[in-house]
Amino acid sequence: MKVLITGAGGQLGRALMARVPEQASVRAMTHEQLDIADARAVEAAFGAFRPDVLINAAGFTRVDDAEKEREAARRANATGAAVLAGACRGASSWLVQVSTDYVFDGAQGRPYTADAAPNPLSVYGLTKLEGEQAVAHALPAHSTVLRTSWVYAPDGRNFLTTMLRLMRARPELQVVSDQVGAPTSVTGLAQVLWALAQRRAAGLYHWCDSGAASWYDFAVAIAEEALALGLLAALPAIVPIASAAYPTAARRPTYSLLDKRATEELLGLSAPHWRRALRETLTARAQAEAAA
Ligand SMILES: NC(=O)c1ccc[n+]([C@@H]2O[C@H](COP(=O)([O-])OP(=O)(O)OC[C@H]3O[C@@H](n4cnc5c(N)ncnc54)[C@H](OP(=O)(O)O)[C@@H]3O)[C@@H](O)[C@H]2O)c1
Repeated sequence: MKVLITGAGGQLGRALMARVPEQASVRAMTHEQLDIADARAVEAAFGAFRPDVLINAAGFTRVDDAEKEREAARRANATGAAVLAGACRGASSWLVQVSTDYVFDGAQGRPYTADAAPNPLSVYGLTKLEGEQAVAHALPAHSTVLRTSWVYAPDGRNFLTTMLRLMRARPELQVVSDQVGAPTSVTGLAQVLWALAQRRAAGLYHWCDSGAASWYDFAVAIAEEALALGLLAALPAIVPIASAAYPTAARRPTYSLLDKRATEELLGLSAPHWRRALRETLTARAQAEAAA
């Protein structure tokens, strides 16, 4: 199986590269190497490699910046997805596209199944939805779209690494407690994407780690686990606040849990509880810091 990975320099791209299955021969292209919205460049990449499967890990992921950089967000998240879908259709390749819980408005109050009606509140969510639609339209029977949520890794730019940095610098932090979702380890997400690339099930699927948390709960757990692993010298005070007290450019759903049971059934696996996955991630981080 020849697999092309786009957006390979991001946190998901790197996690995919860290666990390439034995039977896959991979070409990984970073943003610098391939702009997914550049149709000619994409065509050239396809011509040179002729992938059986493309996993698109590229995206404009700065949710607040997207409100002002609407065109840049649309270019990466919608145009890019459409260009890749067109190239896959021309080359008879399978496309695995990654999307987000932010396609939902969070008003439903219970986990979203893949067939629930989307209603994005932000430019990021809207452009990701446009990307999903472009993929489904071009490749109805030859693509998988996987929505996920609150993705973090031991390094790079994400909530976990931001919290660790702030907790090391400040005695007290305020964290939003009225947005609930599921923190999701990039490690498990990468495994699921590889399984989907091999399984090639067409359609829309959801993946997140099990359980639920507010950003405040997530921050408290990060502090406790990091302290236990020696990544923090002392527990900072963490104060829960309302979203209204921490205005951001983008509106976010208050409750965006994804119902992932169909994916678990399809792949015959069950998602770990987010807190266990967090402990494993921080253990990897502690080992990396000890080795440095
Ligand atoms: N992070 C989350 O919490 C989360 C949650 C749900 C879904 N997702 C989805 O998961 C996927 C992977 O995100 P991630 O967490 O790995 O984010 P990330 O670390 O920001 O990685 C995204 C990568 O895409 C690259 N990129 C941006 N525009 C591109 C373009 N036009 N052509 C090629 N590459 C481009 C970025 O490069 P530059 O840095 O140079 O721009 C970056 O390397 C995205 O589809 C995202 O929407 C993420």
